[in-house]
Amino acid sequence: MFNELDFKKIDLTKDAPVEETQRQYYYIAKARGMIAQECTKEGRTFTYCLKTFGCQMNEKQSEVVAGIMDEMGYKRQDTEDADVVIYNTCTVRENANLKVYGRLGRLHNLKNKNPNMKIVLFGCMMQEAHVVEKIKKDYPFVNLVFGTHNIFKFAELYSEMLLEEKQLIDIWDGTDKIVEELPTERNYTFKSGVNIMFGCNNFCSYCIVPYVRGRERSREPEAILTEIKSLVADGVSEVMLLGQNVNSYGKTLENPISFAQLLTEVEKIEGLKRIRFMTSHPKDLSDELIEVMANSKKICHHLHLPMQSGSSRVLKEMNRRYDKEKYLNLVEKIRTAIPDISLTTDIIVGFPGETEEDFLETLDVVEKSDFDTAFTFIYSKRSGTPAAKMEDQIPEDVVKDRFDRLLSLVQQKGRVVSSRFEGTVQEVLVEEESKEKGIFTGRTQYNLLVHFPACPEMLGKYVNVKLNTCKGFYYLGELQDN
Ligand code: 5AD
Ligand code: SF4
Repeated sequence: MFNELDFKKIDLTKDAPVEETQRQYYYIAKARGMIAQECTKEGRTFTYCLKTFGCQMNEKQSEVVAGIMDEMGYKRQDTEDADVVIYNTCTVRENANLKVYGRLGRLHNLKNKNPNMKIVLFGCMMQEAHVVEKIKKDYPFVNLVFGTHNIFKFAELYSEMLLEEKQLIDIWDGTDKIVEELPTERNYTFKSGVNIMFGCNNFCSYCIVPYVRGRERSREPEAILTEIKSLVADGVSEVMLLGQNVNSYGKTLENPISFAQLLTEVEKIEGLKRIRFMTSHPKDLSDELIEVMANSKKICHHLHLPMQSGSSRVLKEMNRRYDKEKYLNLVEKIRTAIPDISLTTDIIVGFPGETEEDFLETLDVVEKSDFDTAFTFIYSKRSGTPAAKMEDQIPEDVVKDRFDRLLSLVQQKGRVVSSRFEGTVQEVLVEEESKEKGIFTGRTQYNLLVHFPACPEMLGKYVNVKLNTCKGFYYLGELQDN
């Protein structure tokens, strides 16, 4: 874990070290010097705005970029009228890409007013060749572009960019490197994501992730445990273990270890109260994991188990390697072992060739599985994936109609399922003050949101809250004697 360093002690007259972590510290120190000079000249501190699109893996990687920007001497702000604007991009659906292009148009106007403004783009969307071509051609005012594999090089690339007039682009095809101990600025003091693996080997036929995040690589368990221990020492009590498919964690390590074994080790960490993880692939969810979850005092009884479709035929086309029956059996097995489990899922509608019968199978699984929430997505064609080449892409009006029907069932069921805790008292981690002053928001172990009157001193603490009224996906509650 990164500890405060004295960057002034780094000798910049020497060449940059080869060892990657030390090398990045060197470049932080170098950029820090350049930025300090500019700040003195202008008589103010420079600002940056960092926006993250996409998943929690991106959120976590943005914390590293924020940590490095802070160390380099910048001050973070929320709005984009900053000296540096950084977007960590997602490309899982076309919409995510369109959002970035839209924002870049607006940034151009801001940059016209402040020509010294720097614009940095990185993350999944930048791993696509056609995106980079478009940026070169249509957005020449962007200063720095890099991808997912070389995020650990951020300080080095940024220093180089400061000395460059022209657009700097550095995209790698892959990496086997996992660089530890870079500075991190966490979004919350009391909870944190922890990467346990990177990349994905599953190649679901609709999904771009394996192409933009590369092959699956697990972190060594010791590195994960050390990180969590120092997070706990720093005030964190809830961790979310992150990976595209956590159920296959550890299989490719020199000394293989299962995800369930890793969880057992994490559980032993004193002072840690809650463990969450994301995302589970149904094909790899082991009995061992269910047992560890059922016996654990710290693993939250919430499981995100993306089903994608309820039709065995579509699941086969999606290359998911389970069918409807296997999914339903798995749900039943989990509910038998952990009766109070909260299940959530992801569903795609309008996959190429999806018929009305296929869609009805999806509704059937939703009907039977009692999900607390389902995240529903309209299929988005991602170039380079096998599904993009499939014939029989579904007309927009048909997809829209199915999407509306699915959403209505998901909401109707979710309201009933989520209200099962109405009237009970639950332990809640107080996470933030809502827009309404004096009203705070927290989460139960089931990942259900609760709004209740409280005071700022309770932030980051566990309190007992009576869940008075279920409002669909959240509760209104009141503090009990704590
Ligand atoms: N179109 C629509 N949804 C997608 N997802 C992944 N790829 C696509 C796509 N091409 C959804 C899946 C996944 C979630 C993170 O995004 O449901 O679980
Ligand atoms: Fe988006 Fe997938 Fe990349 Fe996460 S891993 S940011 S969901 S494309």
